[in-house]
Amino acid sequence: LDNGLALVPPMGWMPFERFRCITDCVRFPRDCISESLIRRTADLLVSEGYADAGYQYLIIDDCWMEASRDDATHELKSSFDRFPGGMRVLGDFIHSLGLKFGLYHDVGERTCMFRGPGAARHFELDAQTFANWGVDYVKMDGCYASEKEMDRGYPAFGRAMNRTGRPMVYSCSWPFYKSKPDFSLIAMHCNLWRFALDVEDSFGSVTNIMSLYSSKQNILTEHAGTGRWNDPDMLVLGNFRLSYDASRLQLAIWAVIAAPLIMTNDLETVRPEIKKLLQNRDIIAIDQDPLGVPGKMVLAVQNIQVWVRSVTPLSNFGTNSFAVAFVNNGGFGPCPLCPQTFQVTLQRLGLNSRMGYYVIDLFNSTDNLGLFKPKDMFTTRINPEGVTFYKFEVVPFY
Ligand code: DGJ
Repeated sequence: LDNGLALVPPMGWMPFERFRCITDCVRFPRDCISESLIRRTADLLVSEGYADAGYQYLIIDDCWMEASRDDATHELKSSFDRFPGGMRVLGDFIHSLGLKFGLYHDVGERTCMFRGPGAARHFELDAQTFANWGVDYVKMDGCYASEKEMDRGYPAFGRAMNRTGRPMVYSCSWPFYKSKPDFSLIAMHCNLWRFALDVEDSFGSVTNIMSLYSSKQNILTEHAGTGRWNDPDMLVLGNFRLSYDASRLQLAIWAVIAAPLIMTNDLETVRPEIKKLLQNRDIIAIDQDPLGVPGKMVLAVQNIQVWVRSVTPLSNFGTNSFAVAFVNNGGFGPCPLCPQTFQVTLQRLGLNSRMGYYVIDLFNSTDNLGLFKPKDMFTTRINPEGVTFYKFEVVPFY
C-alpha cells in the first residue's frame, strides 16, 4: 500500500501468541490482556533497549474490547475492567515513551475470539475512533466475514482510515482467509498481510511457515517490497519451546524474507542470550534493508536449505551484497540431531560478482571469515534445527 508508511518492515510487539485471550485478571494478573500488561511492556521496550534496536509498534491484539458497542454512539469501547483509563490515555502514554500504538480489529461481524464486535457496517466510525485514540497501526483480522465481504471490506476500511487523515499502518489477515488470494490486489490495499497460519511456540511451527513461504515464494516475493510486506506472523523468541538454535533460525529466516519483526513474549522474562539475539543490530539491518527485496529459499539438499536475500552493498560501485542463511532441519543421516557440515560454491547460490565477497558471521560480526570468489567453496557447520547466517559483502570494483 502506497501510503508512505512501512517503508521497511514494521518492528514491535504483540501479545497474542504468548498471552492469547486471557481476560481473568484476578487469577492471572500478570498475563491478562490489560492496561497493566501494555504499560509494563511499553516501559520494558524502552528500558531493555528494544525500542532503540527498532521495536517501535506496541500493538494490542484481540480481546481488548467490551462485548458490544456504545448504545448511543455505536462506538467501540475498550473493556472497562481491564483498560480503565481507556485507549486514548493509553495511546498517549505509549506515545510519551516515543513508541507507536497499534490496535486489533476484525473486518467482519465479531473478532476472532468472539469477545467484541467486528467493523461490519461501522467502517467510517471505527476508523475515526481509532484516529481519535491516536492509533498508528491497525491489525485487521478476517473472522466472521465471507470471502466476498473481505474483498469489499479490506479496501473499504483502508479508504476509511485514509479519510481520517491520520497515518495508520494497515496490517491485513485477508490472504490467510482466502482460498485463492489475489496478492496484487492485497498489496495495493495493505502494508502487510498474513499469508500463513498462526505461529506457535515451536520449531515445527516455524518450519511449517517457512515451507509455506518457500512453496509460494515466487508469487509472495513478486508483490512484496517497500510499503507492502509478507507477514509470516510473530517472532516467538523469548518464550518456552524454542531452543537457542531454533531462536536463531526464526530470526534469521524472518530477516531473509523481509518479515515484520513483531515479538510476542513477556519482556520481563526473556533470557539474556535471547534478548541479545532479538537486538542483534546486524540481523535487524538485514531485515530492514532499504532495498526491500525479500529473499527466497534457493537450494534444498536433503535436510539442508539455503535462503538468500539481496541487500544494499556498502559501496555503490559493486552489485548487491547478500545475506545467506544455511538451515539444518535435522532428521537426516547417521546422526540426525548432530551438527552438520555443508559445502557449496558461491556461484551455485547466485553470488557471481568476479571481485568476490567479504564474509561476516551475522551472529558474531567480529568474526570476519575472509574473501570468497564465486568459484570458491564455502563451508559451514550448522547445529541441528538451527542456522548459520552470513553477510556476503560484495567487493567494489572501481
Ligand atoms: C487470528 C490471527 O491470525 C491471530 O494473529 C490473532 O490475531 C487472533 N486471530 C486473535 O483472535
